[in-house]
Amino acid sequence: MKNVSIALLGCGTVGKGVIDLLAMNKSLIEEQLDTAISIKKVLVRDLKKYKQMKLPKNIAITTDFEDIINDDEIKIVVEVMGSADFAKNCIESCFLKGKSVVSANKDLIADYGIPLLKLSQKHNVDFQFEASVAGGIPIVRPMYSSLNSNAIEEMTGILNGTTNFILTNMAQQGISYEAALTEAQKLGFAEADPTSDVGGFDAARKIAILATLGFHSELTFKEVSVEGIEKVTQADIQHATEMGYVIKLLAVAKQTNKGISMSVYPAFLQKNHPLASVGGANNAIFVHGNCVGDVMFYGQGAGSLPTASAVVSDVMNVITHFNNQITGKRRYLWREDKKLYSTSR
Ligand code: NAP
Ligand code: HSE
Repeated sequence: MKNVSIALLGCGTVGKGVIDLLAMNKSLIEEQLDTAISIKKVLVRDLKKYKQMKLPKNIAITTDFEDIINDDEIKIVVEVMGSADFAKNCIESCFLKGKSVVSANKDLIADYGIPLLKLSQKHNVDFQFEASVAGGIPIVRPMYSSLNSNAIEEMTGILNGTTNFILTNMAQQGISYEAALTEAQKLGFAEADPTSDVGGFDAARKIAILATLGFHSELTFKEVSVEGIEKVTQADIQHATEMGYVIKLLAVAKQTNKGISMSVYPAFLQKNHPLASVGGANNAIFVHGNCVGDVMFYGQGAGSLPTASAVVSDVMNVITHFNNQITGKRRYLWREDKKLYSTSR
């Protein structure tokens, strides 16, 4: 059996999930690929913390990115650190060295996704980022692959688990916004600074990524009109319940007469709307294509193993490309003028 060595940049919630998943599903993964996957090195900042974690002995832990970038045996680098600038520099270096990259980093993809994809294509390497939107739910690849025979007309999603958890618990348990947020932080859904969750910016980044791929248009999250849930009160929730509605933070991207519109806002949804029953920290995305009609994706949008599921599937996809000698050959299509492709329907 062949072997591919990979490295992880980061070993927190998602990185540890990748290590665990590769151990749990080792034979299932290797038999599909006819290739073994070895995690050779892991990059972190605080060595002491990870020595206590008892990672498998064959994984070397380092604080120096040079150890990874200069290791020619490492063919795939998995970026699960977070933040944008350091991660971007690392990924660019990987491409220059002919290494393919898998990333879960929505901040990075929302800011630099298109230039990085262009650079990866220039260097004929793969760049995949399924986990950057909605954690374990397969939605990024459907946007540029499984649904790509359609003109996508609209997508509406619950793309942030923290806010959905807060709104669900305010409605179902009658607790305050502050108490629900504290609970979401304890459970680890919220970002270290939850402003991007509750302010709607996390959902804005995710809808911009999906809209860029689905509408083949160079869009940025700065073009999303954003309103968060900070002002939603228990009284608003009760009012909605009495009228037969639920309040959900929606991320919407659609075609309009004036072009593509993207927005994030707390919305009243009728209780029988398919997105109304999405509870807890789950995510869901409703997509309308001109031929497929409505398609809905639902599941866990965060968490260690759910997110690792998407990351490892990207790694497997890259290895399949290696095995079939088709690295970096996908042609992504974007219109810089942001106009939509015409269809006869
Ligand atoms: P995390 O638990 O905070 O872990 C981050 C890891 O990266 C830690 O091991 C940290 O090392 C390391 N790291 C951070 N900056 C570094 C640097 N400059 N140099 C070296 N190592 C560095 O984060 P996470 O929750 O796993 O998230 C990772 C990425 O996945 C983020 O982009 C996040 O947005 C994305 N994501 C997360 C989820 C989720 O459910 N958690 C879901 C979807 C996507 P130290 O501990 O030594 O600082
Ligand atoms: N803070 C994010 C959320 C994590 O609540 O959805 C997954 O991106």
